[in-house]
Amino acid sequence: MNKRIPPASTIEGAISLPGDKSISHRYAMLASIARGATRIRNYSTGADCHSTLGCVRALGIEVEGAGTEFTAHGRGLDGLRQAAGDLDAGNSGSTIRMLSGILAGQPFRSRIFGDESLSRRPMQRIMKPLVEMGGAIRAREDKFPPLEIEGTKLRPIHYILPVASAQVKTCVLFAGLFAEGKTSVTEPVRSRDHTEIALREFGAEIAVERQTISVTGRPNLEARELEVPSDLSSAAFFIVAALMTPGSRLSIGGVGLNPTRSALLDFLVGMGAKIRVPNLESRGGELVGEILVEHSALRGGMIEGGLTAALIDEIPVLAVLGTATEEGLTVKDASELRIKETDRIRTVVENLRRMGVAAEESTDGFFVPGRQKLRAAALESWGDHRIAMAFAVAALRAGGASTIEGAEAASVSFPEFWDTLAAVVK
Ligand code: S3P
Repeated sequence: MNKRIPPASTIEGAISLPGDKSISHRYAMLASIARGATRIRNYSTGADCHSTLGCVRALGIEVEGAGTEFTAHGRGLDGLRQAAGDLDAGNSGSTIRMLSGILAGQPFRSRIFGDESLSRRPMQRIMKPLVEMGGAIRAREDKFPPLEIEGTKLRPIHYILPVASAQVKTCVLFAGLFAEGKTSVTEPVRSRDHTEIALREFGAEIAVERQTISVTGRPNLEARELEVPSDLSSAAFFIVAALMTPGSRLSIGGVGLNPTRSALLDFLVGMGAKIRVPNLESRGGELVGEILVEHSALRGGMIEGGLTAALIDEIPVLAVLGTATEEGLTVKDASELRIKETDRIRTVVENLRRMGVAAEESTDGFFVPGRQKLRAAALESWGDHRIAMAFAVAALRAGGASTIEGAEAASVSFPEFWDTLAAVVK
């Protein structure tokens, strides 16, 4: 799908967004190994989370309802059944990496595959700890999907994560649920902690001491009633659009503001963004609140170290924002971006250049100088949802109408993106 996007004069309104992708995956997976009926509301509408739900169903879990609200009937830790065929993770790295932790501890064999993009993403990062736990996994060329997982009895380990990855952390902790004793993971920097919070909600014993998280194996996970907060990473596109466009004022309700994700807001406020969060509440252990944002003059800034990990999914749209800042935006320590749905350093810099913007690529990041005018251009998503949405935001600030080839990719995390955008663009 080729989408034509004319410039916006202002961004205005009050919107609500679909459920958080990260939290949705975890709730669906944990519901499948908890005992009883877990009711989930505001489940992500994104294709990725529906890949997870498809896998859960294929593993013999009855899921009643469809769309954003459903009940999953788990039968406890030992209640999954061997799937009749291969499990399809679609475009979703979270599905394949996190579910593999559960599959490794089953008394049956599974095969899980993904689409073309996922088939090029590295899986050694989960294979290594799972093999240490006694798991038996084979991969194409020893590193790529499909994965063939011979379920087995696992033993607990202490694993030091070589990369900051919440997916890998989750994979090991999920596998630890099936091992007798304590499994722990030490992270190089603190990554999103939705797994720790969700495990605790479902009744697992979790201990967090600085950057080490431990889970006690063989817990009795209990079904829960849960509501997924709206996705801050999806909100980021609208926050940036409002910050960049004169006269804008936007309210986004019910957004997940977990401190391991909300570094985004602190970073923006630090650059001078007028963002307020008037009320915060806790839901299922997750912080939720309304975000109010208005057009702001921004200084520019630097994303590096732990901040890079905390903002990893937002970097494409922050690169776009960088063009409208005073001093530009520098991103460092972001080589992980090269192995996302696309090489996001490449795809961001290429689209920026198509818009007539100077952008310097480095091995682990880029620099986007500030005070640059965006030119209307023929842009591409290369099948990457966050690239499609980030450059839709850029197109709003261009001198004329731009096009985005492969705009349908947005559906991976946010199928309503284009309609929501149309509703706030004036
Ligand atoms: C996610 C973790 C991050 C992020 C992805 C979702 C998660 O990936 O980019 O969109 O839900 O745990 P990594 O674990 O590869 O950093």
